[in-house]
Amino acid sequence: MSTLITGIGELTTHDPAHPGGRLHDAAVVIEDGRVAWTGPAADAPAADESYDAEGRAALPGWVDSHTHLVFAGDRTAEFEARMAGESYAAGGINVTVEATRAASDAELERGLVRHLEESYDGGTTTLETKTGYGLTVTDERRSALIAARHVDEVTFLGAHVVPAGSDREAYLDLVTGEMLDAVADIVSAVDVFCETGAFDETETRRILEAAGARGLATHVHGNQLGHGPGVRLAVEYGSLSVDHLGFLTDADVDLLAGSATVATVLPACDLSTRMPLAPARQLVDAGAHLAIATNANPGTSYTSSMGFAVATAVLQMRLTVAEAVRAATHGGARALGRHLDRPGKPRVGELTVGARADLQILDAPSVTHLAYRPGMPLTRAVWHAGVRVRG
Ligand code: NIG
Repeated sequence: MSTLITGIGELTTHDPAHPGGRLHDAAVVIEDGRVAWTGPAADAPAADESYDAEGRAALPGWVDSHTHLVFAGDRTAEFEARMAGESYAAGGINVTVEATRAASDAELERGLVRHLEESYDGGTTTLETKTGYGLTVTDERRSALIAARHVDEVTFLGAHVVPAGSDREAYLDLVTGEMLDAVADIVSAVDVFCETGAFDETETRRILEAAGARGLATHVHGNQLGHGPGVRLAVEYGSLSVDHLGFLTDADVDLLAGSATVATVLPACDLSTRMPLAPARQLVDAGAHLAIATNANPGTSYTSSMGFAVATAVLQMRLTVAEAVRAATHGGARALGRHLDRPGKPRVGELTVGARADLQILDAPSVTHLAYRPGMPLTRAVWHAGVRVRG
């Protein structure tokens, strides 16, 4: 079955064959879940069915490369206190851990699906989510299993914090041993919160080494609450990404610019925690690979809107719209190692021939409207793996 999407006023492909990765008056042909053709609408081949975008903009679906959506409970009071002047501390995570442990599998799954539906409504077509609110062998494994039923990429974040009441050394043994072994067949990567109040440099090294020993990719939560070793360690260990980045030295920026590790910025989190915005402009100018993600979670960033993250990255972090769109699609794919084809998993985040046919049509003539009309629900239609799932 093939589908021709025609009448596209502005098509963002990220295909180097197209000037600026963009075409006007364009069309896309989808076949068997993949992009089969892109080009001028006037040259488009015939297909089994067609959809007329009536001059609207089309672009790859968002790749949200950082979320924490397997959770229960509520942190409204913590948010209110923060807006009244309290500062964010890693310890708030334990509130969600307690509620998550108390929830049934069905409750966790319902919550995950509800948040995923919100995310898909906003044009997201690839999503990573982390464990990290269970922090026992049983609760981390069930979080990973629930996540794996619904999302593209699952990351093990047993190293989120040392849970309340646990002995630090014993927990480190668990998270680098039995707990990691219990999820290793389910997850594709391991993450560690390298920060004051979470895990220090020595502990982070242990966790990254344990992941590497099992052949798992890594991510690091780094430089969120202050300057620290997160970026340096992520680059040294070849992590796929280091995420947050509100507190960077020039040396950190240079390290990222010279590495394949993706710098993932989380604008909604920076706003919701009233922390400094990550220096996305400086990172792009230095030549770092950049991703934009939502960090959807109940503590620091309770939104799954990639449109909001993109608008904020443009309006507040001073990216151009094209840079922000690229970071939220191709950048996110790179942060997950999904910019390359994997067995049974075509690449995502771009509309090039052979990529998974994930695309969104905006209720706007240009992607510029994503920042020009911030907060407006601009998602008109969405295809996921060639299937129209919205609009
Ligand atoms: O990415 N930084 C660590 N983890 C989450 C926050 C989780 C929470 O506070 O519940 C984050 O911001």
